[in-house]
Amino acid sequence: MALLDVSGVTLRYKTSSAVVTATERVSFTVDRSDRFVLLGPSGCGKSTLLKAVGGYMSPSEGRMTIGDREIRGPGADRMMIFQEFDQLLPWKSVLANVMFPLLTARKLSRKDAEARARAYIEKVGLTRVVDAYPHTLSGGMKQRVAIARGMAMEPDILLMDEPFAALDALTRRTCQDELLQLWSETKFTVLFVTHSIAEAIRIGNRILLLSPHPGRVKAEVVDVDKVSNEDGSAGRLEKEIHDLLFAGEATAH
Ligand SMILES: Nc1ncnc2c1ncn2[C@@H]1O[C@H](COP(=O)(O)OP(=O)(O)OP(=O)(O)O)[C@@H](O)[C@H]1O
Ligand SMILES: [Mg+2]
Repeated sequence: MALLDVSGVTLRYKTSSAVVTATERVSFTVDRSDRFVLLGPSGCGKSTLLKAVGGYMSPSEGRMTIGDREIRGPGADRMMIFQEFDQLLPWKSVLANVMFPLLTARKLSRKDAEARARAYIEKVGLTRVVDAYPHTLSGGMKQRVAIARGMAMEPDILLMDEPFAALDALTRRTCQDELLQLWSETKFTVLFVTHSIAEAIRIGNRILLLSPHPGRVKAEVVDVDKVSNEDGSAGRLEKEIHDLLFAGEATAH
């Protein structure tokens, strides 16, 4: 059975003047240990889909389940990581930021929460700044803290909304490598949103392509792990995805 099952999900925003359909009848399933990427142009509803999986928004149509439970609201089984650098609590140290959800969810005692937090801070290479405050950190370091905080909760799935999009190209690359390194250690499940084809290919083992507004499923690309830069297959896949996204209707890879 899939870990996450999104089935025929339509998501709408109702404002005082209009109803905006963000996604229309989107279906996909995420298996345990997948690095599942949602890829599509700006405005196609990627963030909206992630919000819905996070439990912050209810579908107008369709249903979403995690394990055997219907998603009805936010939960510690799904941790969200955003693009913005201000997602940390500015008045708390790195350690206190990572411990915070562990304590509020009453998952662990203070002592165990601290040990868990320190372990994940080490995993993202930030032991040196464990007592520092967010305003003293670079953007990349802040994102690593946010990732450590999400991972420390050991959720069923990590929801990442363009977590590296605001970083410079070199830091972005390092953060992508680190995420993959962390994944190879613990094989966590991640639902990762990006509008970069190259990032989707680097991060994902499966990629769901969404059409422009409103977001509908165009195709799913599977077995991305098999492509590589050495034999040029990554470049070919990048072109193929580009054509699928932008050149009208073609068949799935
Ligand atoms: N709070 C809101 N109220 C009304 N409409 C919204 C709201 N948030 C998003 N939308 C609309 O829903 C659609 C999907 O937005 P969403 O933010 O999910 O796109 P996205 O794929 O994440 O785009 P980007 O790549 O730019 O982050 C857009 O047309 C957007 O204008
Ligand atoms: Mg978005």
